[in-house]
Amino acid sequence: MALHGDALPDFPWDSLGPARERATAHPGGIVDMSVGTPVDPTPAIVQDALAAATDRPGYPVTIGTPDLREAMVAWFARRRGVTLSTAGVLPTIGSKEAVALLPAMLGVGSSDVVLHPDVAYPTYDVGARLTGARPVAVDPTRPEDWPTGSVRLVWLNSPSNPHGHVMSVEQLRAAVDRARERGTIVVSDECYAELAWDEPYASEGVPSVLDPRVTGGDTTGVLVAYSLSKQSSMAGYRAALIGGDEALVDRVREIRKHAGMMLPGPIQDAMAVALGDDEHVAAQRERYGRRREKLLAAVRAAGLEPDPESVAGLYLWLTRPGAKGRELVDHLAERGILVAPGDFYGPAGEGRVRMALTASDERVDAAVERLTA
Ligand SMILES: Cc1ncc(COP(=O)(O)O)c(C=O)c1O
Repeated sequence: MALHGDALPDFPWDSLGPARERATAHPGGIVDMSVGTPVDPTPAIVQDALAAATDRPGYPVTIGTPDLREAMVAWFARRRGVTLSTAGVLPTIGSKEAVALLPAMLGVGSSDVVLHPDVAYPTYDVGARLTGARPVAVDPTRPEDWPTGSVRLVWLNSPSNPHGHVMSVEQLRAAVDRARERGTIVVSDECYAELAWDEPYASEGVPSVLDPRVTGGDTTGVLVAYSLSKQSSMAGYRAALIGGDEALVDRVREIRKHAGMMLPGPIQDAMAVALGDDEHVAAQRERYGRRREKLLAAVRAAGLEPDPESVAGLYLWLTRPGAKGRELVDHLAERGILVAPGDFYGPAGEGRVRMALTASDERVDAAVERLTA
């Protein structure tokens, strides 16, 4: 497994330096809505679990403590409507790391193609490039248009970063059916699943690719990646997991048993507690929901148009007819608000900007005031 680090693109965030400087110079200070890093305190029950777990002289186990394994299985059943055994789940250090390294660990090679959504979190492309494979951007809702050939893996991301679209059960099933016809592995990154704003998903929940209505009850060839970073404000803990096809999970587990990358023991304890508690997730969801409502009204007042299909997730996906994405970044930076240009997420994102809901209430209020002034 060679890692093709020389095939990587320039790190896109570096190009945001001048806009950041301009926004920082605002007399009221910067409102940074570019990266999407959680700012609310990690819930007390999680901090307490971590504090109680500091005495760990021994090595942690790759597969997770018995408590964590049970917590992952119970979480899939309770929150995602998915029945798995402990052989079908595995904790990972972060999901960025998992996204970047899964293709390599699943055997993708330099003659393969990896598909990812045409407007997408950039790490899908990076993970393909690291294996030497060719990343190809596709519309995940139109599997009939996907390329043929040696397509080894397809990434789905619902709810999506950046645009907040959700794939319906029918769309997920069409994607899985197509992938199965071709022997392609499906990995669905579902880290925003708890953040649905509009119906039907706000009441019914966002469907998982592992939902039996999608898979027919057979998880073969299908994996989910999930992260506690957003639902539990635990990005600094690097607590994440994969679940699904036991054979694929086993392949990753075997590599990790040899190569390491075990989730640190104290983090395993904190993660088990976080996965078992729905109350703090609901509270965090409410917090983001309130910020979203305020910001939606303010961006509309400022002449920006939110994407009407953005029904979930942690971002507003905004346009202003006739304006380029980078022009909108500069325009907002003048007001001290830093957002990410849509082209960070692929050429199909041009003409948009992504505004993260991850700012404190005080900073969100400052942004609202500046947008509506
Ligand atoms: C779609 C998507 N996947 C994965 C991640 C990474 O999350 P983690 O904090 O678990 O690395 C992010 C983070 O923003 C994301 O937007």
